[in-house]
Amino acid sequence: MSKWQQAIDAIRAKTSIQPKIGLILGSGLGMLADEIEQADVIPYHEIPGFPTSTVEGHAGELVLGTLEGQPVITMKGRFHLYEGHGLDSVTFPIRVMKQLGVEIILVTNAAGGINTEFAAGDLMLITDHLNLMYRNPLIGPNDNELGARFPDMSTAYDPQLRQLAKKVAQSQGISLQEGVYAGVLGPSYETPAEIRMMRTIGADAVGMSTVPEVIVARHAGIKVVGISCISNMAAGILPQPLSHAEVMETAEKVKSIFIGLVKGLIREM
Ligand code: HPA
Repeated sequence: MSKWQQAIDAIRAKTSIQPKIGLILGSGLGMLADEIEQADVIPYHEIPGFPTSTVEGHAGELVLGTLEGQPVITMKGRFHLYEGHGLDSVTFPIRVMKQLGVEIILVTNAAGGINTEFAAGDLMLITDHLNLMYRNPLIGPNDNELGARFPDMSTAYDPQLRQLAKKVAQSQGISLQEGVYAGVLGPSYETPAEIRMMRTIGADAVGMSTVPEVIVARHAGIKVVGISCISNMAAGILPQPLSHAEVMETAEKVKSIFIGLVKGLIREM
């Protein structure tokens, strides 16, 4: 039995919900999990093989239920490489979501703005990514049942879902930026020289998550749509230093707009 199969069996024993949409929520949006209705909540430690110990200080929970009329699954407590988790841990929940029947993953994150047309507080629809983590979660033997050895990444961020996101944003009066997300390991923020390099190679925003999850989702044939909250301008653009406090403060400010967009998108999926 695969390690995912044991996890699936444990989850199936605790819920009959068949999620269609997986939500991977970044800084500041985690509380969307609390709005899920008729929720079944499963602590990670009750799921064999599921990674535990998130930075937020609590062990973490899977939440399955209904949001905007759609069957969803989300994680309270996400794993990042900078915490010391391996790629297996970071992407395990995506494999589990696939086995539970998830067809679409909606991923959100906080990111530093590299494109100088952006401002802190903007929302950016992710059109593509640059994997500057220089590691790939698919390295190792390939399970052909799960996906192809050499999966295509040419439409990693689904064009139709991107159109839908733009339509929903427009209907809500949100001016949605668009751009390329560069994924880095962190946890130190970038130097101004690194940001200039990233701009030169085509990045519009930079953050410390998302890329491994998206690679595994695409390998499994799950469609992906991603939205970044530009929580700060990246290093060297403005005179002030970067701080996690600024990231959290901006995320808090745009929270209600961001949640409105995410919910509107889920409703239309
Ligand atoms: N750099 C990397 N990750 C981030 C940033 C940033 O400026 N802001 C939020 N996450």
